Amino acid sequence: MAFSKDFIWGVAGASYQVEGAWNEDGKGPSIWDTYTHSRQSPVKQHDTGDIACDHYHHMKEDVALLKELGVKAYRFSISWSRVIPDGFGEVNPKGLAFYSDLVDELLANGVEPMITLYHWDLPQAIHDRGGWLNPDIVTWFERYTKIIVDALSDRVKYWITINEPQIFIGLGCYTGVHAPFLKLCDRDVILMSKHVFLAHGHAVRTIREYAKQSSKIGFAPTGPTFIPDNESAEAIEEARKKSFAFNPDGYLFSNSWWADPICLGKFPDGAKEFFGDLIPDFTEEEWSIIRSPLDFYGCNIYNASRDETDIAATDAKNGLVGEPITAINWPITPDALYWSARFFYERYQLPVLITENGCANTDYVFLDGKVHDPQRIDYTTRYLRGYYRASKENIPLVGYIYWSFMDNFEWGIGYSARFGLVHVNYQTQVRTIKDSGYWYRDVIASNGEIIWKE
Ligand code: BGC
Repeated sequence: MAFSKDFIWGVAGASYQVEGAWNEDGKGPSIWDTYTHSRQSPVKQHDTGDIACDHYHHMKEDVALLKELGVKAYRFSISWSRVIPDGFGEVNPKGLAFYSDLVDELLANGVEPMITLYHWDLPQAIHDRGGWLNPDIVTWFERYTKIIVDALSDRVKYWITINEPQIFIGLGCYTGVHAPFLKLCDRDVILMSKHVFLAHGHAVRTIREYAKQSSKIGFAPTGPTFIPDNESAEAIEEARKKSFAFNPDGYLFSNSWWADPICLGKFPDGAKEFFGDLIPDFTEEEWSIIRSPLDFYGCNIYNASRDETDIAATDAKNGLVGEPITAINWPITPDALYWSARFFYERYQLPVLITENGCANTDYVFLDGKVHDPQRIDYTTRYLRGYYRASKENIPLVGYIYWSFMDNFEWGIGYSARFGLVHVNYQTQVRTIKDSGYWYRDVIASNGEIIWKE
């Protein structure tokens, strides 16, 4: 029993979370640089990504670790303001060179690069011009995409336009938990959504038109998947409905608010009735841009939801009393990968790629010099078993990308959470492959076979 022969086993990271070198070699500031430096930053312990894993200076060592893990793909994001310091003006050749060297190093080590164009670190100069509220962001994002495609598409095949609009608009601009820590009203976040849809669509078109080889393109939303109480047809239908329902209190965090326009070319049922004229009136041409065909449905899934009234929450209060939780209180719900793959495939008819899934744990280096993290191994085994059920039922699966490659800056909670397969000592920058890293290497080598061992 194993996954398909061409199944992609990967790991992921993101620019602001790992790179450091926040103001080196001509990089411009992003909103995460600016707002984590502010006196008012709500980030735990006032942590910042100034140094993070210093991946910018440890790139070759990190790629060697990827090789040691035996991963087939590395999903990483590009810092827009490293490449174009203000987001729309001059290109910074040193910034572009960093990513070009990373791609070369990956390929030389047999690892497929998988690029995310936008993982939340908006150039500050664009934010100062209104950020996602400014319609010009669509053109700026399109131009940035073209610059990256021109520079890297001779070697890069896999592209993800945006990571979790649910979070960078929802937590960033609506609940104010992530930079730029805004609490805007529906009117503004719906306008931002409009620009996100168009930016995504134009980026897809740009990649298709200018890439130097045939590309595989998707995006990486998150969102609640509901698991049925039992496997009766009625319970399954109820869970399916809840997974895509339009909910005026949680719409920004839902699947359908983002994925229905992008994959089906329409807003979810109920949105227009509730919001009326706030809902954008796209022309036919705009809809065809937004709905530009994708090659896979990427999704970041950490757990399943149970409570409709709290669909934005991923912590234990959304689960059952006393159930297993990770180190940051997220419920452990292994069937989430099966039901997500199934529901997303049924609705959007695209092969599924789990672009993120992983476990935060209280990892440290033991007296024997190793990092023992049985919780992570158990968590991932259970989730992969769930995912395998989807494969057995012939749901097309592109692969599985574990979050994260190494411990890193975990946004609002700083360095207090560790998700990595590789431990990072932030004082010394020493990396230690955890037990789970070696285990994942064996999972990959067996193409998933060993997840069945007790
Ligand atoms: C994000 C990652 C983040 C992870 C764990 C996702 O929401 O894409 O950047 O570190 O989940 O919270």
